[in-house]
This record gives sequence, C-alpha cells and structure tokens, in this order.
Amino acid sequence: MEVVDVELGDRAYPIYVGAGCLGDLGSRLAETGRGKRVAVVTNSTIANLYLDDAVASLTRSGFDPAVIQIPDGEEHKNLAWLAFVYDRMIDAGVDRGGAAIALGGGVVGDLTGFAAATYLRGIDLVQVPTTLLAQIDSSIGGKTGINHPAGKNLLGAFKQPRFVLADVECLRTLPRREYVAGLAEVIKTGAILDAELFAFLEAELSGILRQERDPLVRVVRRCCRLKALVVVEDETESGYRAILNFGHTIGHAIESLTDYTTYLHGEAVAIGMVAAARVSRRLGYCDEATVRRLTTLVDRCGLPTEVPSDLGRDALALAMRTDKKALGGAIKFVCLEGIGTTRFERLSCEDIVRYV
Ligand code: NAD
Ligand code: GLY
Repeated sequence: MEVVDVELGDRAYPIYVGAGCLGDLGSRLAETGRGKRVAVVTNSTIANLYLDDAVASLTRSGFDPAVIQIPDGEEHKNLAWLAFVYDRMIDAGVDRGGAAIALGGGVVGDLTGFAAATYLRGIDLVQVPTTLLAQIDSSIGGKTGINHPAGKNLLGAFKQPRFVLADVECLRTLPRREYVAGLAEVIKTGAILDAELFAFLEAELSGILRQERDPLVRVVRRCCRLKALVVVEDETESGYRAILNFGHTIGHAIESLTDYTTYLHGEAVAIGMVAAARVSRRLGYCDEATVRRLTTLVDRCGLPTEVPSDLGRDALALAMRTDKKALGGAIKFVCLEGIGTTRFERLSCEDIVRYV
C-alpha cells in the first residue's frame, strides 16, 4: 500500500493506492473516528462487482452501512438523483458524525461528493474510485457536482474527501475502452508535468495496457502525487490548476458537437491534446519532435489523434466560445513547451481553430 498526502492544512488527506486494498476500507474509515452509520453510494454495475467486499469491510470494522444505489450513466448525474440520495440518507438516519462513501467512477464520485458537501451542511466524504480516470483525477482535489440541462457540471461545490482509497485491482473489470480512455488523462499528466512519467509510459506501455500490477500501481501513484501537488498549489482553480485543462478545450468542443455519444471523455481529450500540441507548435512554443512524441504515445494506446473531418472549424470555434471557461471569446489555453512543461496563452477561439 502506498500513501500520497494531499497537504491542504486542516483539509489534508491521504490517498491510499494499492492492489487488493478495497478490504481496508473499514479499517481506514475507523482511523478517522467516524460514527457507525455511513452511506455507501454506488451504481448498479459497480454494486454487482464490489459492493459486497466494501460492505463486508465496513461491517468488520463496526460500521452500519446504508447502501444507496443509483442507475449507471452520466445522464443520472443530475438533480433528480441527487435528491434521491438525500432522501435515502435521511431515511437511513445518517447524521453529522457519519460519512458518505462514493464507490465508483467519476459520476458516482461527483454526485456523492456534492451530496456530502451539502447534506446537513456537510458531512465527511470518502472516495473509493473504481475507474482509472477517477483514481488519478476526479477523486482527488475536491471538485464535486452534477450536470444541468444547460451544461455539464454547472452545479457543484469544492469538497475535499477525508481519504481516497484506490485499488487498482478494481480496474480489471473495467471495459477495455474505459480503461484506455483513462490512459489519456495519464498521458496528459506526464505531458504537462513530468517528463520522467512520460518516458516511463513510452517504455512500459505494453505492460500498462495489459494492466500489469507493478507498472500500473507506479503510474497511478505518480499521477495521484502530481494531481495532489497541483491541488495544493491552487485548490479552487484561481490560476495554476487550469494546467489540468490541457487538451480539454478542444476535447470538450468535440464532445459537445458530437452530443457526448461518439467519444468517451478521454478519447476526446486525446484528440484535444494532439491538437493543442499542434497549436503550440504553430505558435513556436514547442518543436515538431514534441508533437510527434505525444501523437505516437496517444496512437499506441489505440486512442484517436485527429479532429473528426466532419466537424467544421466554425462549429468548433463556436463550441469553444460557449464553454463555461471561455471569457469574451478568448480562452486561457494550455500550450506545450516540451514534454513536461507548459505555458498559458490567452487565445481567441478562432485562432485556436486556425492553428489546429
Ligand atoms: P463513469 O463513472 O461513468 O464510469 C464509467 C463506466 O465504468 C460506468 O459504466 C461505470 O459503471 C463503469 N465502472 C466503473 N468502475 C468499474 C469497474 N471497476 N469495473 C467495471 N465497470 C466499472 O465514468 P468516469 O470516466 O469514471 O467519470 C466521468 C465523470 O467524471 C464525468 O461526469 C466527469 O464530469 C467527471 N470528472 C470529474 C472530475 C473532478 O475533478 N471532479 C474530473 C474529471 C472528470
Ligand atoms: N479535473 C480537473 C481538476 O480537478 O481540476
């Protein structure tokens, strides 16, 4: 078991990373001194796979877990299912001494996190991420929320968990496409923050694609550490944390133009990262070799690298303009300077599209 500390003063917490550590959930929670009545929020898919182990671990440590199950899917990360979770927590008598435990991917984690941030004006949150994306990204850093018909993640709060427990063994049951999409965020982490991680991915990719335990634990732990450092530097995204948006400006535009039905988030980010590297190259911030290394690694994972040809430039620019992070038609765009280094540039949406 490896521990990564998120050093946020009175909101500091550990991220436990290991292979086969789900059974430690109860003992880790007991260390925090929480009351007996806790809620485990999960979805129907994950419940079939990991709920029994999670509940058994909690029960062994003296907890009395109430299980709250929502349906699987991003379309359920909404106000109606948040209300359902509040209702079940009230019915179950979860009080301020209790905790909400999110057992699942980013959808369960974001919704449960928002419930924990607001229920009784805030109860403790534990993240037990079961997708690669959730283990290295969404469970860390306290962003929680739900979607609104007007846009994704429009309602939310910052709520740091008491701890994160990431068991890489859970990734074995993840659909292959979801796992590979998660690798896009791993590549992003290396590309923006850590040339050594990026080189490790290049060297060990076949083992990582096969989910060999040692390189996988190493990669997850390293990504968690890097995300923790970014969060500690800028907890509420007033500046530096926006570095994590590398590849997301164009990625979000592609997801939105394809109605979130063609690409998984990580797949759109993969295209967005390659496009952002090309923009950086056109602006003279990085060389062709950097673009090639990134494109090659993305491609070796089996992830897409090209903006679909049927998406017009005007449509792309318009989709970027309506992104909630755009200000006055301009975007704080994350450019690549080399593998492991970036710079922010304020660019118009039209310029971004022209340089892709
Ligand atoms: P997800 O939660 O929808 O999970 C993907 C699919 O895998 C689902 O069908 C899920 O049921 C299934 N699944 C999960 N774990 C499994 C396992 N171990 N075995 C088999 N199947 C499993 O998707 P995701 O990619 O984890 O998360 C996407 C969400 O995360 C989006 O809503 C996004 O907005 C959010 N997000 C949040 C942050 C943040 O900082 N809070 C960051 C990035 C993304
Ligand atoms: N996933 C982006 C962030 O946590 O800021």
